[in-house]
Amino acid sequence: MNELVKEIEQLKKEKNAVILAHYYVNDEVQEIADYIGDSYYLAKVAREVDAKTIVFCGVSFMGESAKILNPNKTVLMPDMSADCPMAHMAQVEKIEEMRGKYDDLAVVCYINSTAELKCHSDVCVTSSNAVKIVKSLPNKNIFFIPDENLGRHVAKQIPEKNIILNKGFCHVHVSMTADNLKAIKEKYPKALVLAHPECKQEVLDLADYIGSTSGIINYATESDNEEFIICTESGVGYELRTKNPNKKFYFAGTKHFCPNMKLNTVEKVCHVLKTGENEVHVSDETRLKSLVPLDKMLEMAK
Ligand code: 13P
Ligand code: SF4
Repeated sequence: MNELVKEIEQLKKEKNAVILAHYYVNDEVQEIADYIGDSYYLAKVAREVDAKTIVFCGVSFMGESAKILNPNKTVLMPDMSADCPMAHMAQVEKIEEMRGKYDDLAVVCYINSTAELKCHSDVCVTSSNAVKIVKSLPNKNIFFIPDENLGRHVAKQIPEKNIILNKGFCHVHVSMTADNLKAIKEKYPKALVLAHPECKQEVLDLADYIGSTSGIINYATESDNEEFIICTESGVGYELRTKNPNKKFYFAGTKHFCPNMKLNTVEKVCHVLKTGENEVHVSDETRLKSLVPLDKMLEMAK
């Protein structure tokens, strides 16, 4: 164990801290994490974990959600500038306009969103529970924010609902194209295509499986196939290779790196544990309002 990792282990004990990491962060950070997972799993862990401090290696909406769910815990982020651009791609004015248009509207908010957007929403979802939650809502009219691609994927599976889409997107996932996929498929014809629902429709149309980051990892792990084309951020490669050392994974596109997720480093984890810097704060008013859709998600996804 190197000195830095030893120091982190010591600091974790002293401060009663745990490290949570999303599958998209650097391999070295996933190696030192106590819990690694997709957004839904990490939100659940953040609520249930018995520790005084959470170091959240992800992007700001994840740290913010952890704080909203745990006002009495200290939530630290290795790099406060790690933000998800998609989290800002919806407008409160548009939500209000839609509420004026439809009496029975439910605003369904992908967890990749700011706390402010959550304050104006009825229920949060992640890519692993969106279909289940939207299906069980009593409302016919749904405004799905901010991700258009995940919203369309949900809408296709629930044709009985009127799902209104919003024009948000993830620049990492929309960089993957059907042409990329066809070129890799030509080279590796036996490979199965596993895609995250944030990908464009033309990519999802070619997928053998569509699911969240943990869905993709579980599918590849349980499958008898030996080769896979992965349409999501490259960080999932760490868990895919750890669990499946004999299988082959090829990543679609050339821009499959989320620069924000990659801002998390082992050095920064050590620094925030030592100094207590980069604490996440959410005002009481925002916290109480944004807790409602987050709590509803945790309840409905069970
Ligand atoms: P998951 O919920 O699948 O982990 O996705 C999070 C994310 O940011 C996708 O880009
Ligand atoms: Fe946001 Fe895309 Fe990065 Fe996920 S991969 S955090 S959606 S920018």
